[in-house]
Amino acid sequence: MEIKEKSLEYAPGLEGVVACRTRICQIDGQAGKLYYAGYPIEDLAQNSTFEEVCFLLWNQRLPRHDELENLEKIFRENRSLPQEVIAFLELAPHTAHPMDALRTIASLLSCFDINLEKSPEANLQRAIFLTARFPTIVATFHRLRQNQKPVLPHPSLGFAANFLYMLFGKEPTPNQAKVMDAALILHADHEMNASTFASLVTASTLSDIYSAVASGIGALKGPLHGGANEAVLKMLMEIADPANVESYVDQALTKKVKIMGFGHRIYKNYDPRARIFKEYARRLSERTKFSRFFKINEKLEEVMQAKKGQHGIFPNVDLYSGIVYHQLGIPADLFTPIFAIARVSGWTAHILEYWQENRLFRPNALYEGPAPRAYVSMGQR
Ligand code: CMC
Repeated sequence: MEIKEKSLEYAPGLEGVVACRTRICQIDGQAGKLYYAGYPIEDLAQNSTFEEVCFLLWNQRLPRHDELENLEKIFRENRSLPQEVIAFLELAPHTAHPMDALRTIASLLSCFDINLEKSPEANLQRAIFLTARFPTIVATFHRLRQNQKPVLPHPSLGFAANFLYMLFGKEPTPNQAKVMDAALILHADHEMNASTFASLVTASTLSDIYSAVASGIGALKGPLHGGANEAVLKMLMEIADPANVESYVDQALTKKVKIMGFGHRIYKNYDPRARIFKEYARRLSERTKFSRFFKINEKLEEVMQAKKGQHGIFPNVDLYSGIVYHQLGIPADLFTPIFAIARVSGWTAHILEYWQENRLFRPNALYEGPAPRAYVSMGQR
């Protein structure tokens, strides 16, 4: 049988390649706009809740009142971790990065899922349970590594407020809860980003949702993706003062080192999430009178705008999110796990959608090695 060769084009980093169809998320990179199922991110961050956004991503429509109440109830009832998982977190090295702990536990949870049902309904339920448990995993690991007793999930607090409660052992103020809720909304989904693609690649083999989510967590950890928020705070500490920004940027650009929190494959304009985070960071910085990091960031923006603005390199979501979390008293190595707590809703939404018309991801490679040749025996080499 003759196999017709399609003309294959090499696209490093798969730039410009359309890998699937979706009804979940849309980005207009030139205009700097982001929509979840048609709703602008600005409206959602201001008026919605993370629970409502989860429903939106999983169903591509906003919930009715009873539907939202039902989802909130299911989240509340499924926040606890199996005792064996807590025992594992106690035994795990407490020096481990929380992203490694989260990835491992997301994977471990599959061992406790005895339901063999693979229907869309069963997988949606797994998505809800995973999302409900992510904050508990992160907060439990964080407390254990500090030799503190884990705090059991609160029976009535909302998703974001309960996470802060489990982390710090006391109820957050309404403002802190609102800021965390908005942060989760802003991170919930972002079309075909690297971690969503990683989870879809795993899902496309018809593997299970836990494996796909674990793939997503692994991909999110890197500093070119979700790990950038932690890297930004490290950079701000290194710069230390707005007066050092210009020389820091000059040195980095000369050495071809990326400035964390800037640039994006899709946005060639200001990332709309960064605008919202910036406003929260400004308000929190004023409130606590601790604005050094905010001032460094503003200077970074000014310097980068002059040097790289014409190349379409603008602030991305990670530039200001770290300052916001820092102001809430959250340590830097939990920034990326918070990204994951939100993004698991998006990963699972895309996995469930992709499975509706699944096709194995299997791209090609451009071979540049030696031409076919005869094997050389050991004595002849
Ligand atoms: N600082 C300095 N130069 C940059 C930056 C940056 N942050 N981002 C891109 N460039 C330059 C890069 O050096 C290259 O220049 P040249 O053509 O002269 O070699 C050009 O822009 C293209 O860069 P690229 O890395 O090939 O572009 P990409 O589309 O693969 O980049 C990116 C996307 C996010 C990996 C990149 O902008 C970057 O590394 N940024 C810093 C890390 C970061 O903040 N990541 C978070 C992304 S947003 C959160 C998320 O969704 O994950």
